[in-house]
Amino acid sequence: MDLGLRTSDSGLRTSDSAIAHAAVILRAGGIVAMPTETVYGLAANAFDPKAVARVFEAKRRPSFDPLIVHIADLDDLPGVATEVPEAARAVAERFWPGPLTMVFPKRPEIPDIVTSGLPTVGVRFPDHPVARALIRAAGFPLAAPSANPFGYISPTTAEHVREQLGDAVDAILDGGPCRVGVESTILAWRPEGPVLLRAGGTPVEALEEVAGPISRPAPRMPTAPQDAPGQLPRHYSPRTPLSLDASPDDFPAGARLGWLGLGRPDRPERYVSVESLSESGDLREAAARLFAAMHRLDALGLDAVLAQPVPNKGLGLAVNDRLRRAACQG
Ligand code: TXA
Ligand code: MG
Repeated sequence: MDLGLRTSDSGLRTSDSAIAHAAVILRAGGIVAMPTETVYGLAANAFDPKAVARVFEAKRRPSFDPLIVHIADLDDLPGVATEVPEAARAVAERFWPGPLTMVFPKRPEIPDIVTSGLPTVGVRFPDHPVARALIRAAGFPLAAPSANPFGYISPTTAEHVREQLGDAVDAILDGGPCRVGVESTILAWRPEGPVLLRAGGTPVEALEEVAGPISRPAPRMPTAPQDAPGQLPRHYSPRTPLSLDASPDDFPAGARLGWLGLGRPDRPERYVSVESLSESGDLREAAARLFAAMHRLDALGLDAVLAQPVPNKGLGLAVNDRLRRAACQG
């Protein structure tokens, strides 16, 4: 079922009746793809372990990867988390709603399947009117990972969700293209202080202005997904290998190559397709365009995509992190 009724070009409103219908589906234990300002999420009632299990199934997501719980008001926080430090409250007041997830000790009502058995829960208050209206209409927080098959590019349009997960979800709400375009920044509050678990849509430099120094563990190469190709949805093209910092000379003369980066490549004639994330070098614009550009390149059946890292500051940290992960899975 597709409830994507777009009523304005800005994409900020899906009709109230579509949201109400999606809330009914959620209350019945169904799963709904919803727009957020970062990427589209695949939502289920965070208190219903069976509904959450359907999310894992639809995404073919391993059970050891915990989901983020989405709330629509600061007052919802005590219902999912305990022990919110004073500094975290200050950060929440400054950056929520927005592209920030914070990890706290969880309430016992949050089922283990949501947190993969961890005693903590990742909580996010999204800044998208459709996501917030949906949470309010449902009447409970929504557990939602990004709405893509595990290990693939995150969706930043309803069309991406339709292509990748269409048949596996009960409804898709279309809120237009995501404004931020990369997933939320994840911050954990540990006894020793705040720790950055994932670079994302809120620059860590901005967080530090409120939270003080945030420790940043050295980036680890994530392990490749275990899925055999036969288990993957047929409508999704095999992932094109992505190389970071490579030269076209590293490939045979006839290789069909794509390029991804800021500005323009040195030798544009060597590429079948060039995706400039921002002509002016704007890192926010680059983040907003990143996943859609990766989806377009991946649809071309190229031999390889050559990606150029961006400056490692502001949203560039998140862009480089996603490029590194894509390169690792290539
Ligand atoms: O922007 C976003 O965060 C999007 C939108 C839909 O809200 N969601 C998202 O979810 O990116 P997902 O499932 O693709 O990534 C969630 C990640 C997990 O892979 C895990 O690394 C981390 O959040 N996470 C969740 N709960 C955690 C916890 N209790 N402790 C540590 N990390 C956690
Ligand atoms: Mg994801």
